[in-house]
Amino acid sequence: MQILRDLPALRAAVETLKSDGKPVVLVPTMGALHDGHMALVEEARRHGRHVVVSIFVNPRQFGPNEDLDAYPRREAKDAQMLQAAGVDILWAPSVDVMYPAGYATNIRVSGSSDGLDGAARPGHFDGVATVVTKLFNQVQPDVAIFGEKDYQQLAVIRRFVADLDLAVEIVGLPTQRAEDGLALSSRNAYLSEEDRKAALALPRALGEAKRQMEKGEPVEGALAKAIATLAAHGFDPIDYVTLCDAATLEPMSVLDRPARLLGAAKLGKTRLIDNIAVDVA
Ligand code: PAJ
Repeated sequence: MQILRDLPALRAAVETLKSDGKPVVLVPTMGALHDGHMALVEEARRHGRHVVVSIFVNPRQFGPNEDLDAYPRREAKDAQMLQAAGVDILWAPSVDVMYPAGYATNIRVSGSSDGLDGAARPGHFDGVATVVTKLFNQVQPDVAIFGEKDYQQLAVIRRFVADLDLAVEIVGLPTQRAEDGLALSSRNAYLSEEDRKAALALPRALGEAKRQMEKGEPVEGALAKAIATLAAHGFDPIDYVTLCDAATLEPMSVLDRPARLLGAAKLGKTRLIDNIAVDVA
């Protein structure tokens, strides 16, 4: 595996990879890799495709009071895991390579960026859309793989890829979970032992609300119960528990088409998100 940090070296290495005609698959990450990330890498490796993984903790997607400085960084261990998984290139640019002095461009996706995490984290999805567009232009992959764990992020990425006619196929992979059901996340490492147990209330409350809605219970009541469950387990604040159109993420008050139930809330200092598909009753 080559570890590359500057653009000319990356371009040359990708060109060499592409010379055998096999597709190049990109898995963008911010590092501190766990089994959720590695599931994306395994999917990327399928059918012998070439795999580029990027690790870049993107300052533009962190708000002023968020955990940019504290965000876990452990590139050496990540590199070992990626090497063992058969990755061809680790693309690990510095902030100066990604955003050189004078950098002035922002990619903003209307609609799908605005609600949910976009409302709770102003500018977050501009930062994501900007860096992912740059990663696509840098690596020029045929396919890029993202997790459904960050469902709104996936919706925003699908939107700008379509809108900007980008020649990259976007693949979404189901959320990988710990045995007890908690979605794997780099931020789980911040949870105290007690909060790790309480965190389970998030997937459980979403799962229970999904069952109620699919049985035909009113959406509003099911959401209110989920919020009450989270509050009872110490989540505070609860940013949202919302039923949305599965593609556009517009809020829905009646379950009349394929939907996604999304939740975000803080436990202690740790903000957790999760989501689940809800099928029409
Ligand atoms: P990061 O949080 O490191 O996640 C990288 C990729 O791993 C994302 O596509 C995310 O959805 C996926 N992922 C994380 N946890 C997962 C899980 N439990 N199951 C399945 N997939 C999971 O998301 C980002 O980085 C950044 O916003 C990025 C897209 C790299 C842009 O900076």
